[in-house]
Amino acid sequence: MMKNNKKMKYIIAPSILSADFGNLQRDIEMINKSEADWFHVDVMDGVFVPNISFGFPIMAAVKKYATKPLDVHLMIINPDQYISEFAEAGADRITVHYEACTHLHRTIQLIKASGCKAGVALNPHTPVTLLQDVIEDLDLVLIMSVNPGFGGQQFIHNTYKKIRDIKQLIQGVNENLIIQVDGGVGLQNITNLVSAGANAFVAGNAIFVAENPPEIISNMKSLTASSINI
Ligand code: DX5
Ligand code: ZN
Repeated sequence: MMKNNKKMKYIIAPSILSADFGNLQRDIEMINKSEADWFHVDVMDGVFVPNISFGFPIMAAVKKYATKPLDVHLMIINPDQYISEFAEAGADRITVHYEACTHLHRTIQLIKASGCKAGVALNPHTPVTLLQDVIEDLDLVLIMSVNPGFGGQQFIHNTYKKIRDIKQLIQGVNENLIIQVDGGVGLQNITNLVSAGANAFVAGNAIFVAENPPEIISNMKSLTASSINI
């Protein structure tokens, strides 16, 4: 066991899906002033997932006020046809779902060619070994810790095993890969997630439903800093 490397950077990415859309500018400015690192932007098409969230007009509104990078999570089928549009709308990183991409390698190259960092998300049932042949090309892997589609769901425990599996997969190959966890993440499990090997954390309800969101973000940040990374 190794004490947490001081240089290790842990990312907190509040999911604006849980923001108050009637007061979006206020909520974005709150995140700007907080210790959060990225804005997590959940795009859902009602086909890949059983919910519709928002598209380019909201992306544009977020971009207008956000002073931190936009981490765009596409829960849509056929993402290739929208990659350049999301890049132009201000995405810094784009994550697509393994389950939604027939030609995943091509999609990853498209994201990179658009000037964005590339991520792939895995649903809870998808084994991380399926990423073996593209792992060197990726900047980020997003382990879904709920079935995508909604905020406020319960964290799936098998996520810890998947984080350990991905840690193993990247050994000697792509050790700078960001391992992000999304769904049911909060103060109650962030320490264990860091111990398993995750280094980026999406949180929607845990932050926006709280009475004092910046304080939750700050507490999440402190917990990552004091956790033991194995
Ligand atoms: C779920 C989305 C998540 C969601 C997380 O499909 O990808 O980003 O907003 O929300 P919480 O943290 O409330 O589970
Ligand atoms: Zn998400």
